[in-house]
Amino acid sequence: MCSKPVVILGNGGHAKVLIDLLLLQKKDIVGYSAPAEENNPYQLPYIGDDHDVVHKFNPEDIQLVNAIGSVTNTNTRKRIFNFFKSKGYSFLTVVHPSAVISPNAKLKEGAQIMAGAVVQASCLIGENTIVNTKASIDHDCKIGNHVHLAPGVTLSGSVWIGDETHVGTGATVIQNIRIGNHCLIGAGALVIRDIGDNKKAFGVPAREMR
Ligand SMILES: CC(C)(COP(=O)(O)OP(=O)(O)OC[C@H]1O[C@@H](n2cnc3c(N)ncnc32)[C@H](O)[C@@H]1OP(=O)(O)O)[C@@H](O)C(=O)NCCC(=O)NCCS
Repeated sequence: MCSKPVVILGNGGHAKVLIDLLLLQKKDIVGYSAPAEENNPYQLPYIGDDHDVVHKFNPEDIQLVNAIGSVTNTNTRKRIFNFFKSKGYSFLTVVHPSAVISPNAKLKEGAQIMAGAVVQASCLIGENTIVNTKASIDHDCKIGNHVHLAPGVTLSGSVWIGDETHVGTGATVIQNIRIGNHCLIGAGALVIRDIGDNKKAFGVPAREMR
């Protein structure tokens, strides 16, 4: 079955990296959406905003790529994903050719596994979640929906990460740790204890901020 043409949602830094990946895979990119026609080094056709995508394309004719990045807050990515899902659209699950994915890892809709990432046996990666450049996820990890594992994150085996949590660049999490929903783990943190929902933690070892 031929894959459907792709529409990119967003035009920031994460979008550029995804476009590189999609061009490498010879995907048919019909254009990008953004609030304004700018930041378009690839000269892709500009579609308009999110509502213009809905007006111009039937859900069954295209697949979407959520190219909204997130530095600490995954809300915008989640809102856009849910908006288009509610209108019947589907999201492409993206895997860079240099990523190593266990045959029995499960990637849910719209997951994005970027260059050099490793996803080991029996892992689950949730909907709309980014496993960013060179992040490494060891066996039996369960990663929720709308999560961002930033570049260079290292998760040991059997780590659970809740929905909408951001794990900052280069953070490390030891085995069997559970991190809740809506957490923010700082860049370079070393997480050695469980972290509950809605917490911000950073440092070595990571401590929750009041
Ligand atoms: C944890 C984080 C969110 C804190 O942001 P913040 O609340 O705005 O904190 P501030 O920058 O005001 O810093 C407050 C203090 O915490 C320290 N601090 C901030 N982030 C830290 C981190 N990751 N590790 C250790 N200390 C940190 C600062 O040095 C500062 O200390 P000081 O008061 O002694 O000077 C942020 O630094 C971070 O790590 N973000 C993740 C970025 C990321 O993953 N980007 C990925 C893009 S793809």
